[in-house]
Amino acid sequence: MTSPKRPSVFKHKHLLGLEHLTADEIIMILDSAAGMKEIFTRTVKKVPTLRGKSVCNLFFEHSTRTRTSFELASKRLSADVINFNVATSSVAKGESLLDTARTIQAMHVDFVVMRHSCPGTPHLLAERLKMSVINAGDGAHEHPTQGLLDTFTMRDKRGSLAGLKVAIVGDILHSRVARSNIWALSKLGARVALVGPSTLVPRHFERLGCEIHHSLKDGIAGADVINLLRIQLERQRKNLFPSIREYRLLYGLTKERLKYAKRDVVVMHPGPINRGVEISQDVADGPHSVIEEQVTNGIAVRMAVLYLLSGARDAPVPEDA
Ligand code: CP
Repeated sequence: MTSPKRPSVFKHKHLLGLEHLTADEIIMILDSAAGMKEIFTRTVKKVPTLRGKSVCNLFFEHSTRTRTSFELASKRLSADVINFNVATSSVAKGESLLDTARTIQAMHVDFVVMRHSCPGTPHLLAERLKMSVINAGDGAHEHPTQGLLDTFTMRDKRGSLAGLKVAIVGDILHSRVARSNIWALSKLGARVALVGPSTLVPRHFERLGCEIHHSLKDGIAGADVINLLRIQLERQRKNLFPSIREYRLLYGLTKERLKYAKRDVVVMHPGPINRGVEISQDVADGPHSVIEEQVTNGIAVRMAVLYLLSGARDAPVPEDA
């Protein structure tokens, strides 16, 4: 029996989340990112793929990694980049989000990369505008390129996601990174264990097929990968645990606690990291940590996303799509 054929064209115009992508589409992005990463080894780290296209980074929330790597990814594909500064823009004079986005579109921009505190905002723009919209994080909903770069890094380290135990530790409730990781990992056959206090890891995540653990020792037992998340105090409206000190004592990953996981466990963190809270200094900088590789892989994944979305618009959509 022959296995079903992988799609040869990425049929989506936008990347709004990983929930509605198929496993084959996720693999297509990861494979494409592996090709993009090869460009980093060249003397001239640039290809003409998106020459003549333009990308606007429209970030209504702070960012170091995502905004910078989208800028670099666009430049490595030879696209023109605009980093829209919300604070000094006419948003400060009361211009609406939609009018702001329409103004950018009127300048013949091809892609808008958007981060906003309100879940669903990129979806709203995708419905109303002709530009391709890429979600760079919408509230606690999704952060698809982070989910993809985390998955890419795990596959790079382990060869395959199938059968891996991935423990995600921390503030799951407020984390768009956790949600995008859960969608990608479960579609690709990994076992996902969510770890943290019951106020930050509610039971309803079991409906997404995840295991729930309130003990760090049980949650990371036998884990192939531990992905740590910071406590998102900016999204918490009430106290969900007694203090940062107590959180660290119960859930902070230290060198001593690493022994509960597999000997060659991979330690990941999407950043920004809070050293001495969810991760100790020696683990963050230790041999298991791939935190900086995640950042590098983020550029390759974002190049792949821009490339595939541009192909989707320029290539004919297959009959069966
Ligand atoms: N991981 C992540 O989204 O980091 P930034 O907030 O720095 O973009």
